[in-house]
Amino acid sequence: MSTWIRGGELVAPQKGTSEQSDLIIERGRISRIVPHGTFQGQVSQLKVIDAAGKLVVPGLIDMHVHLREPGEEYKESIATGAKAAVAGGFTSIACMPNTSPPNDCRSVTEFIVRRAEEAGLARVYPIGSITMGQQGKVLTEFGDLKEAGAVGISEDGYSVVDSELMRRALEYADYHGLAVICHCEDRGLSEGGVMHEGVVSTKIGLPGIPAAAEEIMVFRDIALARLTGTPVHIAHVSTKGSVALIRMAKEEGVSVTAETAPHYFTLDHNAVIGYDTRTKVNPPLRTEEDVQAIKQGLSEGVIDVIATDHAPHSPIEKDLEFDRAAFGMIGLETALPLILSLVREGRIGMVDAIRKITCNPASILGIPGGSLEEGARADLALIDPNVEFTMTEGDFHSKSRNSPFIGMPLRGRNTLTMIGGKIVWQANGTHPGR
Ligand code: DOR
Ligand code: ZN
Repeated sequence: MSTWIRGGELVAPQKGTSEQSDLIIERGRISRIVPHGTFQGQVSQLKVIDAAGKLVVPGLIDMHVHLREPGEEYKESIATGAKAAVAGGFTSIACMPNTSPPNDCRSVTEFIVRRAEEAGLARVYPIGSITMGQQGKVLTEFGDLKEAGAVGISEDGYSVVDSELMRRALEYADYHGLAVICHCEDRGLSEGGVMHEGVVSTKIGLPGIPAAAEEIMVFRDIALARLTGTPVHIAHVSTKGSVALIRMAKEEGVSVTAETAPHYFTLDHNAVIGYDTRTKVNPPLRTEEDVQAIKQGLSEGVIDVIATDHAPHSPIEKDLEFDRAAFGMIGLETALPLILSLVREGRIGMVDAIRKITCNPASILGIPGGSLEEGARADLALIDPNVEFTMTEGDFHSKSRNSPFIGMPLRGRNTLTMIGGKIVWQANGTHPGR
């Protein structure tokens, strides 16, 4: 049966428009987009979805999540991660390779693709590791990873310390058409640190990770992009200095793109004062000045993408002393309201915000999606931009609960997710599957 999505505000990030429109969906694709009130359909032959008061956006794309399968399914499986994704409005997610074993070869990539297909929810795009076992010594077989379904490579969780090896990785990745996603961290500087190094770490007596640990590697990876001509994408930017480096590189014409995560523009290091391990993340929450610079970078377009860095952990890794707890927080189910608050603050326009979670990540990864136009696959989300809510532990679809945003007043929520023309999630909580 065809579907008629009626009366919503259609945000088309690639065209740069936002207007009241109706969409007709047939055989999994958007067949027509018309101004609201002009479509004369036979309601009996159509499933009608009333979108009045809602934003109709392309299915959101999160280019940075951790799904923990294979190996740590007690934290998250591909199926539960995909459920959390569609609940949050995401129809495509790219998953990082730091699983157990890491995604460093064809068989692991194929396994992830197969498990995602079985889950039948969000589309899952694997990212392979840059080196075997993420050990920083021997490059993985990029051609194999690509053939098996990987869309990019990253050493996320670690940096490739050896610059010569990273240079070769960039050269081979370009040849194979794989996106290179850089986790920028100088381990020599960050080793032993558990939060941002600054006045708060000094006051509360925790060892710090200086901003320079990130910035040194951002600079190195930009230099390697300049040297090789291969585009690099800088993951989870958290400091003012990184924003400045990326801005300069872009002005110079170096092929660099960047992402930040919602926690880096929502929280600063003061959130760590109560030793709540849910605020422990890598890179760490920085200063208010850094938060302002991240917002400025987003508004200027220096930061192209917002990705969650969804990093599930169980109480085994989190209910511990702060310095012994694991780094990471979940994000798929709280990202949207945090991003919409930037729009309400006037820091970025609505269309621009949607671009950073749809067409921009799609184009960096070279994957389909991220647009709402006639002929496009009907992957979309219906957002209620004004509904106010708070997340409780019971509300999450993720297997993990390590979110500092539990109990915080939030505004703006996904109400329906469609993939290939089929509703895969609706606000009443059902998961009919794709
Ligand atoms: O906080 C983080 N958690 N940062 C990372 O780079 C890795 C991630 C994880 O896998 O838990
Ligand atoms: Zn990550």
